[in-house]
Amino acid sequence: MARLILRGGRPLFGQVAASGSKNSAEAILCAAALADEECVIEGVPLEASVLAIIMLLRGLGALVYWDAGGRVHVNGSSINSYRAPLYWAKKERGSFYAAGLLLAKLGKVRTPMPGGCNIGARPVDFHLDGFRKLGARVVVENKMVLAEARKLTGARIYVGRSSVGATINLMLAASMAEGQTVLENAAKEPEIVDTATFMNKMGACIEGAGTNVIRITGVPRLKGTYHQVIPDRIEAGTFLTVAAIAGGDVLVTNTKAAHLAQPVEKLREAGFQLEIDSDSIRIKGERRPLPCMICTARYPGFATDLQSPFTSLMALADGRSVIRETIFPDRWMWIDELRRMGAEVELIEDTAVIKGVPKLHGAEVTATDLRAGAALVAAALGAKGETIINNAEVLNRGYEGLTSKLAALGAGIVRYEVDEPLADEMKWELEKVVSPDMEINMGMDMGLTAGVNMGANVDGMVSEEPGAADAAADPEG
Ligand code: UD1
Repeated sequence: MARLILRGGRPLFGQVAASGSKNSAEAILCAAALADEECVIEGVPLEASVLAIIMLLRGLGALVYWDAGGRVHVNGSSINSYRAPLYWAKKERGSFYAAGLLLAKLGKVRTPMPGGCNIGARPVDFHLDGFRKLGARVVVENKMVLAEARKLTGARIYVGRSSVGATINLMLAASMAEGQTVLENAAKEPEIVDTATFMNKMGACIEGAGTNVIRITGVPRLKGTYHQVIPDRIEAGTFLTVAAIAGGDVLVTNTKAAHLAQPVEKLREAGFQLEIDSDSIRIKGERRPLPCMICTARYPGFATDLQSPFTSLMALADGRSVIRETIFPDRWMWIDELRRMGAEVELIEDTAVIKGVPKLHGAEVTATDLRAGAALVAAALGAKGETIINNAEVLNRGYEGLTSKLAALGAGIVRYEVDEPLADEMKWELEKVVSPDMEINMGMDMGLTAGVNMGANVDGMVSEEPGAADAAADPEG
């Protein structure tokens, strides 16, 4: 387990760059493996969730590695197994893209129900309904999904709740199907557009990404290409919120303001000054926030993944705020942790009514999921005294080098591993995915050279012996 120790009350100053988008990278890595040629992808964040996808693809037989320049090379020509390796396939929500990939590539897949953040029930029925419409026979047994199709054929599919994951999985599955697939009520998130742009460079024919109707005309094969992943809007939005809470003057670079329209509007409503440029946003956090009404929604609405950090901000507002969570109604499981720091929050079903307090205080808390962890970091940096965040390894799943990035802005933040020795095992894991010429430096800072600053470990990936876990859970081996 990793633990963060934070000392609040220090304003943040300087510049911080957002990494590439985690959610885009997970989808793009899986899409890349559709080709029988090499794809080279730049801007893939070095995060535990992304490493899990890489290990999953390697487990299927793909050749995947990180080069010395920080680019990921994916060659799916050697994929030879329709069975997703259980350990990695259960780790992440994005792991379920193995289903679309393998159905398109091999016509068959066997994969477990996916993992991901602990934010309530996350079924995959919309994905499976879509696969069936494309002509696959799908069986779910003992939390394992088996799907098979002699031939996939284009179809008209309504994507339930504009699911991001189902939209991506169906783009993968339909990319080489016979005829045209029309996804109605498709997700419009920037990560969908990024994945479709990448797949079109591979030779796919996907029109309408970014609108709620996506048309995919199947092509016989996809080819290798190069792509740069878009910046992570959730990471950028998190830094803006952290700066608003901690105070100071922070420039967030490598970001697309257009992807953050709602959070920017809410920060302005809360009274903060923001300067927007084409690829950066500057925030001055020098006042107590004004209260806001926020309702999470599908893009371009307010992102559910920024709900938790904004809840921390509103906990300090000068008045009463209301935040309604419509995408994952159970995404309030972490709120007791914020209450431990002095926040006054009343939960009424999917809605939090927050009576702002002038100051939060340090406490020992637990990060129950990735974004809740980020919200606690934000709260701790604005709190009086010291905060200890347990289970901090969840932050590795979606923030590249969070500790070192915040420390560089002047935050009082230190991370240490509770269980020792982890470093050797982590090194072993990382050596499997980086090329031999990429120097691994596993010193105190857990930083990787070659331009990739990890700032944190990939704990969680080594907590279980992968082979043993697979053998135990998969009776068929
Ligand atoms: C993705 C993102 C996640 C983000 C979410 C919403 C990745 C890896 N994760 O998650 O960070 O918070 O989009 O923007 O990209 N649902 C069903 N059945 C399904 C699929 C979804 O009922 O088959 C429900 C979900 O439980 C949820 C809603 O639909 O209530 C939206 O989920 P979805 O858009 O699919 O989110 P993910 O793709 O899981």
